[in-house]
Amino acid sequence: MQNELSGPRFEKQIERRDFLGLAAVWTFFGTIIAAIIGALKLPMPSVFPETDSRFPIGRPEEFPVGEAIHLSSRQLWVFSEENGIAAVSMVCTHLGCLVKRQDNDEFICPCHGAKFDSAGKVLSGPPPRGLAWLEITLGPDGRLIVDSEREVSAETRFKI
Ligand code: FES
Repeated sequence: MQNELSGPRFEKQIERRDFLGLAAVWTFFGTIIAAIIGALKLPMPSVFPETDSRFPIGRPEEFPVGEAIHLSSRQLWVFSEENGIAAVSMVCTHLGCLVKRQDNDEFICPCHGAKFDSAGKVLSGPPPRGLAWLEITLGPDGRLIVDSEREVSAETRFKI
């Protein structure tokens, strides 16, 4: 004889205590899985460095003689003088903060108070060496190219 009280409506319902127990177990495993995924992603950089250290900064005529131009997007100061153009990195050689150029042409690092002279040499503070002067070349399209991985002496100028 078939039971007349069958069907999903009459199946035994899960008790609240069982439901809370299952919810705790699933939350535990969900947390563990999320932690494992996070730990596996940790060694991978979330921001990839620029693949090319060379980048254009503009045409030579954009740097009139006697001007010092701050290229904040490239973290550079570009100096154009009678004897050529030079570019100095604004990245402090201590821990990588961005230095600021003062009215007296010196550079100050806001992080640990380092001071650099107008040629980028360390005057005071913890940096192990002076600011990096970067190589400038002329690209095939007539724009000046700075290579952030090729340092030159502070006296080097790119002659146009
Ligand atoms: S980062 Fe510039 S002095 Fe420390």
